[in-house]
Amino acid sequence: MNAINPTTTPAWSRLLELVEKHKNHSIASHFDYPGRFEEFSIHFEDILVDFSKNRISDGILHALMDLARETNIRKAIEDMFTGVPINQTENRAVLHTALRNRNGHSVYVDGKDVMPDIKAVLEQMKTFANLVHGGRWLGYTGRPITSLVNIGIGGSDLGPVMVTEALKPFQNPKFDIYFVSNVDGTHIAETLKKVDPETTLFFIASKTFTTQETMTNAHTAREWFIGKAKDEAAVAKHFVALSTNAKSVEAFGIDPANMFAFWDWVGGRYSLWSAIGLPIACVIGFDNFEKLLDGAHSMDEHFRHSAFERNIPVVLAMIGIWNTNFLGANSEAILPYDQYMHRFAAYFQQGNMESNGKYVTREGKKVNYSTGPIIWGEPGTNGQHAFYQLIHQGTHLIPCDFIAPAISHNPIGDHHMKLLSNFFAQTEALMNGKSLEEVTAEMRKSGKSEEEIEKIAPHRVFEGNRPTNSILLKEINPYTLGQLIAMYEHKIFVQGVVWNIFSFDQWGVELGKVLANGILPELAGENEITSHDSSTNGLINAYKQMRKG
Ligand code: F6P
Repeated sequence: MNAINPTTTPAWSRLLELVEKHKNHSIASHFDYPGRFEEFSIHFEDILVDFSKNRISDGILHALMDLARETNIRKAIEDMFTGVPINQTENRAVLHTALRNRNGHSVYVDGKDVMPDIKAVLEQMKTFANLVHGGRWLGYTGRPITSLVNIGIGGSDLGPVMVTEALKPFQNPKFDIYFVSNVDGTHIAETLKKVDPETTLFFIASKTFTTQETMTNAHTAREWFIGKAKDEAAVAKHFVALSTNAKSVEAFGIDPANMFAFWDWVGGRYSLWSAIGLPIACVIGFDNFEKLLDGAHSMDEHFRHSAFERNIPVVLAMIGIWNTNFLGANSEAILPYDQYMHRFAAYFQQGNMESNGKYVTREGKKVNYSTGPIIWGEPGTNGQHAFYQLIHQGTHLIPCDFIAPAISHNPIGDHHMKLLSNFFAQTEALMNGKSLEEVTAEMRKSGKSEEEIEKIAPHRVFEGNRPTNSILLKEINPYTLGQLIAMYEHKIFVQGVVWNIFSFDQWGVELGKVLANGILPELAGENEITSHDSSTNGLINAYKQMRKG
């Protein structure tokens, strides 16, 4: 990976001039000709991405694409797809794209084609998922499995949670699926209350198979299970592992035949395409899981081969950079107008923030510009009645992605049209706002006194000019969901390259883990703790007092 400080490029200087030049141009003023929508939107298969409601002109978009070129995005894309070890702080390739490489071409890591291993694990997953999905994987008393419990955290949890929720209409209704992630004993305890050991299958999902939360929950589940089944041999029918660490899987007591492998070049937050996706395949069926991979692959091809100006992930990434680095936004909201997509923003909180929440450049220096924004969001219309107030009238600029399917899986009455009328209205309102003149005229018309108008009108004014992207899909199905996830993954990738940071490590989560391991033994026993600062000592000692009851 080259190490270019983006602020030193000619395009960055031009963008600084453009931000100054256009500071008085509203988004609405860019709509002074009929072709704005056609020019500033991209239709790809069943997805329409409209980015016209941003504070960008033709010239700004060109300069952003120049910035992409000047930071060597094209080469970075090729490096990723061809297995160059671009995760340099861990000396690893980054090949989630190979997991969904459906064109049969070889992909090499250290001179070895990784595709045969990927295909072998996919075959193993297919056989297993077909047995479970078809009710032919039987528990220790001969009853078919009906409850699936995934035990994992971070990337070994959020992807399967988000996808199984988003694709609930494609699930075999005979299954209940549960996800246990938190080391808080409540999570596993409440889950175990709901399942029957005879018909439950546990997926222990951990890339490293050392993560404290997952291993603690896995051991608790195993003890609970053996306590009920009274037979250690029964574990083989009820526990499978999804991991890169065969040794620890075996040490845990899971039959190696029930281990589904993946590799160190699959990042945790990019791993739902790997064996980590097995619970997804079991509930939606392997055919549907393959459609998810197909969709992602189609977005990979689009990303790899399209010109930047018509390349959805590149365009979204560069608009994000414009908003963050030139307009001063420091967060982005992801707002799906689809209840099944209710974990989508949470999923990309990890995807984006663990990838691009970095302040150190690829040369090990501190950046002198902003990097990854804070990602958040909830489904519409719920969010409208909670936090949209701040998006419309608050002091922060919050660019939003609005996502909606044209066809609902639950076409009841006029629900979906009502939902979509809100989807369309919000971006219009955020762009146009409402002027003091409009508010005044409206209040006069409804007979308000001049005194009241003077007092209330300013509160009813919306400045507007708030940037949004609208992403309209024909339907949320395995294929389009695969496309959508890959689209955001690649957006994150492009931004990380431009920001000259390493997007595929996560050293920032280490310190807390190490300190917690040091504190854990201090919590046992009665002795007073003095090894920390006075706040940490005080808190630990207060906890020890409180737990005495
Ligand atoms: O939060 C840190 C992290 O390493 C994530 O990147 C990862 O997805 C998660 O922990 C779980 O890790 P593992 O799959 O190894 O249990």
